[in-house]
Amino acid sequence: MTSICIITGSTLGGAEYVADHINNVLTEQGFEVELYNQATLADIEGKSNLLVITSTHGAGELPENIQPLFKDLAHSTADFSSMKFGVIGLGSTDYDTFCNAVNIVEETLKAKEATQICESLRIDVVNNFDHDATAEEWLPSFIENL
Ligand SMILES: Cc1cc2nc3c(=O)[nH]c(=O)nc-3n(C[C@H](O)[C@H](O)[C@H](O)COP(=O)(O)O)c2cc1C
Repeated sequence: MTSICIITGSTLGGAEYVADHINNVLTEQGFEVELYNQATLADIEGKSNLLVITSTHGAGELPENIQPLFKDLAHSTADFSSMKFGVIGLGSTDYDTFCNAVNIVEETLKAKEATQICESLRIDVVNNFDHDATAEEWLPSFIENL
């Protein structure tokens, strides 16, 4: 059974709702899913498949709940070269820094030699009112490369 680790970055819960939905969809499809809303480095170390679902806050920053993990990750000497990852972002095009957290996640994981297996999804919450459906439509692009 293929395992997928989902982690969320969220301030107001929007990204967590999307993660809950994707967790249900993946579980129904027979994947073994672990979901962390307050992930630590230990939670993701050694994982083969990582799905990051995060909003952007501040001025193009990661939400506070996921910042410590990415700081630790940037300084980690652990081997992430066998990790595959995908990213779903929630953000608003009212900001110049639309979905910049996605860029931070991509850059940090790539710097650790993890492999991005599909184009990231960037959901614009100003124009998109069904985040769950949009994430579900994107999901095959992630799954087919696991
Ligand atoms: C104070 C504040 C700052 C934000 N900054 C950004 C930003 O820099 N870029 C962006 O794309 N969206 C930004 N957003 C929009 C949020 O990412 C968006 O509302 C998202 O749906 C929040 O999801 P969450 O509930 O999981 O945190 C900001 C929202 C707030 C309230």
